[in-house]
Amino acid sequence: MPDKITASEPWKSMINHNILIVWEPSYNLGIPIVDEQHRGIVSTINSLCYAIQYRHGNEMLRPVIGMVTEYTRIHFEIEEDFLKKCGYPNLEDHRKLHEELTNALSHTSHDSIWNKDPQEFLEFLKKWWINHICKEDRVFSHYLTKNKS
Ligand SMILES: [Fe+2]
Repeated sequence: MPDKITASEPWKSMINHNILIVWEPSYNLGIPIVDEQHRGIVSTINSLCYAIQYRHGNEMLRPVIGMVTEYTRIHFEIEEDFLKKCGYPNLEDHRKLHEELTNALSHTSHDSIWNKDPQEFLEFLKKWWINHICKEDRVFSHYLTKNKS
């Protein structure tokens, strides 16, 4: 086994360039089921980024896009169920945000991946999820932490 990796090894540059969203501890809300799913979604987005970057064809892109959209749907369902059980008073507003994002996701994924530039879809996903995790969900996590009995 070599004791030092040289820059000439082709896979070394891949290590630094194929992650779109690097998970940061500040993304955690302190709600294990929600944090786990957010990490899972970020992971599926990074898989999609890899497939696009290395020009995999539709046979890989289709299931990975399916994974991103399906995971999103499941996450929203579980998050809404969790908030309902916690008696979160702004559940309806949060549900509307989920609905808007779900519609934008299916519209943008179709337009960007199949008709335009897939990079646009990746940028959309990154912006969208960072906003969801760091802003929208932080509103309910603050509320739940403040009202913890
Ligand atoms: Fe969420």
